[in-house]
Amino acid sequence: MSKISAAITAVGGYVPEYVLTNQILETMVDTNDEWITTRTGIKERRILKEDGKGTSFLAINAAKDLLNKTGLDPKEIDLVIVATASPDMKAASTAAYTATQIGATNAFSFDLEAACSSFLFGMSTASSYIESGKYKKILLIGADKNSSFINYKDRATCIIFGDGAGAVLFEPNNEGLGLQDEYLRSDGSGREFLQATYGGSSYPSTPEAVAEGKHYVFQDGKTVFKNAVFNMADVAEKIMTRNNLSKSDVAWLVAHQANKRIIDATANRMGLDEKKVMMNIEKYGNTTSATLPLLLNDYETQLKKGDNLIFAAFGGGFTWGSIYLKWAYNS
Ligand code: UT7
Repeated sequence: MSKISAAITAVGGYVPEYVLTNQILETMVDTNDEWITTRTGIKERRILKEDGKGTSFLAINAAKDLLNKTGLDPKEIDLVIVATASPDMKAASTAAYTATQIGATNAFSFDLEAACSSFLFGMSTASSYIESGKYKKILLIGADKNSSFINYKDRATCIIFGDGAGAVLFEPNNEGLGLQDEYLRSDGSGREFLQATYGGSSYPSTPEAVAEGKHYVFQDGKTVFKNAVFNMADVAEKIMTRNNLSKSDVAWLVAHQANKRIIDATANRMGLDEKKVMMNIEKYGNTTSATLPLLLNDYETQLKKGDNLIFAAFGGGFTWGSIYLKWAYNS
């Protein structure tokens, strides 16, 4: 019997309508389009504005996009994983609500949190369930409503983040396509450089903390930048070496969209031409768990069966890693 591998067989995506441009940000904080564009590559990001709508709203819409495109009956889905760093609520699973809303009534579901690496680590989790033979259809959604904990008076963070969601379906494959190898890492000594300190279990929110904005995301950009450049490039190169992949074997780099300069540095280390680097940071900014699936959604029509894709991500924690996946279909 040939080994079962875990392939991505469908993708979907969703971003909210409201477009927060660099020009609008110029009216909110002391910044300018030129600085943001040259330092990050970002031109605009999407923001979910409606009251009472959280990450699940984004996740549900991305999942519905996938279901509409494929005609898949949601009752066939075995497991729904929502990779997110911004769950709807404490003590209630965002994935459970999402699964029910899309009609995945025969599935179990859970949230997976690893900051900007949530989706990448979710790919590993979903694939392991498929490879074991235990489940046949796993919906992995990366979704984040970053605007819910961004301080729009802090120019160091508000120019970077956006809201969005992407979804992929994992299914068994017996042609050797799908996930081939992974190299995943974390280092908790990095947590002081990127965190929202208040509002979790260490420091529950207090009126004083909220008044001082301590529930918002804080980032020591320079330190995170250095670590992201080094580690993302390092793991991407390691996974190529381990799998005997030369630069001509790699069809696409699918890298977390945090800063165009970080992505360029990773592509350089891999020796990749710009044409092989998926990029949509200019439209969406950093959507945390949604960057990788939104790239797949935007580039789906250009992907060919058998293409070698190298995924790479880096995020809070610190968490980071790289995955090598063979694309399984022509769209
Ligand atoms: O997804 C999770 C992982 N996150 C990341 O990977 C993000 C990593 N970090 C970054 O992408 C970059 O560090 C930033 C985009 C956040 C900042 O870029 P930078 O090149 O590291 O800028 P900097 O913080 O060193 O600031 C350079 C200058 C400073 O002025 P002085 O001290 O040189 O006079 C800042 O005050 O730019 C100033 N500055 C700004 N100017 C205009 C900082 N933010 C802004 C701004 N607009 N928004």
